[in-house]
Amino acid sequence: MEMKTAVSILEWVYAHLRFSDVVLALSVLFLLSCLREKLSNKAGPMSWPVLGILPSLIVHRNDLFDWCTGALAKAGGTFHYRGVWFGGSYGIMTVDPVNIEYILKTNFKNYPKGEFYRERFRDLLEDGIFNADDELWKEERRVAKMEMHSARFSDHSYATMRDLVKEELLTLMEKMASSGKSFDLQDVLLRFTFDNICGAAFGVDPGSLAIDLPEIPFAKAFEEATEYTLIRFLLPPFVWKPMRFLGIGHEKKLRKAVRIVHVFADKTLERFFRSQYFSDKYFREFCTSFIIAGRDTTSVALVWFFWLIQTHPEVEKKILTEIRQVRNKTRDFFDPQELKEMVYLQAALTESLRLYPSVPMEMKQAQEDDVLPDGTKLKKGARIHYSIYSMGRMESIWGKDCGEFKPERWIEDGNKLRMQNQFKYAVFNAGPRLCVGKKFAYMQMKMVAASILMNYSIKLVHGQDIVPKLTTTLYMKNGLMVKLEPRV
Ligand code: HEM
Ligand SMILES: *[C@@H]1O[C@H](CO)[C@@H](O)[C@H](O)[C@H]1NC(C)=O
Ligand SMILES: *[C@@H]1O[C@H](CO)[C@@H](O)[C@H](O)[C@H]1NC(C)=O
Repeated sequence: MEMKTAVSILEWVYAHLRFSDVVLALSVLFLLSCLREKLSNKAGPMSWPVLGILPSLIVHRNDLFDWCTGALAKAGGTFHYRGVWFGGSYGIMTVDPVNIEYILKTNFKNYPKGEFYRERFRDLLEDGIFNADDELWKEERRVAKMEMHSARFSDHSYATMRDLVKEELLTLMEKMASSGKSFDLQDVLLRFTFDNICGAAFGVDPGSLAIDLPEIPFAKAFEEATEYTLIRFLLPPFVWKPMRFLGIGHEKKLRKAVRIVHVFADKTLERFFRSQYFSDKYFREFCTSFIIAGRDTTSVALVWFFWLIQTHPEVEKKILTEIRQVRNKTRDFFDPQELKEMVYLQAALTESLRLYPSVPMEMKQAQEDDVLPDGTKLKKGARIHYSIYSMGRMESIWGKDCGEFKPERWIEDGNKLRMQNQFKYAVFNAGPRLCVGKKFAYMQMKMVAASILMNYSIKLVHGQDIVPKLTTTLYMKNGLMVKLEPRV
């Protein structure tokens, strides 16, 4: 009965509401919000009535990163935004290095990842380092640093990496080259780093790089778990939380994928080493966080790098010259010292990451009301988004040639690496939460780049649409199709 009444009311409204009324109402709201915008002093993209910034995001969904870069440049580095009304989403977007330093270091305590982020990732990452704040994070960070900066870890990670490159990656490359077929280089690199990080974190090789490129259930579950977690960032809590409770839709799939990940982690941990620092549950959380942090970041960095140097042959030539100079021909592979000496290669990777940072966007949440160094006011609970992608393309940070790929930017005194200013170059984050895998990542990227480039020249398949995928990691949306030719 009630249902019927509701329906007939709706019908009445539809019948009597003319399109022009709706347009009029929206126009008034629009003007009101323009007025509000004029009254606040920071410029930024249009904040629509009711929907806030959402319509702009939808219109620009295909070039969101570049649109954002333009909007930030126009606004002088920082702007406020509002999400859908009553959705509780508001905050700022910034690329100003002075603000970044303040948030990531000077007043670090006021800007944790925050509950907004943590509650969405909790099912997958639990309290792992990547999803922790405060004391818990501090302790995990201490242990992570101790582990990763030990000589034992560097030796172990070099050796597992070398074996994986020599025995699996190069074998696969040889097969691809001799078949003359084109293949998706991004897919192969993702498999490589997945196997490599599992080897480093768990001591097992999932085998996804095997010559027939098999589908590995654990790898697939991990990918799905990340993807379904991200959906929670797009839906309001009153939608995804009940779905989670009821176990329906993507939440059902998420639960299943998370279970596979955790069962795998527990099983392998039983078989392998137990940590002296952690209980089993903590150790599992620790490892899952490591995989999410170190799995795709280096592979997407490499795929943009390989694409960039194909379009900049003069850079590729210099890299090759350097590899040939550094390499000891009596050995069959690069040793850690040789990798260290590849300064130009490192500069080229750094430069490629400036334009295509693996983590394009980051978020923090203000604990208390605060004012940023540039005068921007923040309310408690506000979200601070900083676009690492846009930072790499700001003329105010890099100068007129900010859009050009120039490894020389990172070289000084002939052949020394120029120091990175963390707050301008926030590719590996900055301050106390600087990426702990940075050294590992450079070693891995240099080893893969050098060993592929030394033996093969990469030919891009023509007519590809090279664009980033809109997610938390900067994948190439359509992959990168290439052919390999042996170098003579
Ligand atoms: C090109 C490669 C990489 C890039 C660009 C990169 C970038 C980053 C960024 C931006 C963060 C901050 C994330 C946040 O706070 O939300 C981070 C944190 C982290 N990274 Fe990396 N990363 C890379 C490779 C790696 C690798 C290979 C590992 C592991 C072996 C790793 C382990 C971590 C960990 C554990 C954290 C968390 C640190 C903390 O919260 O205290 N990363 N990385
Ligand atoms: C090259 O490697 C060989 C074998 O490991 C070693 O004996 C030799 O000293 C190395 N040469 C240089 C220049 O490092
Ligand atoms: C790569 O090239 C070097 C010499 O250029 C050669 O010694 C080595 O066997 C090659 N490796 C592979 C896997 O083709």
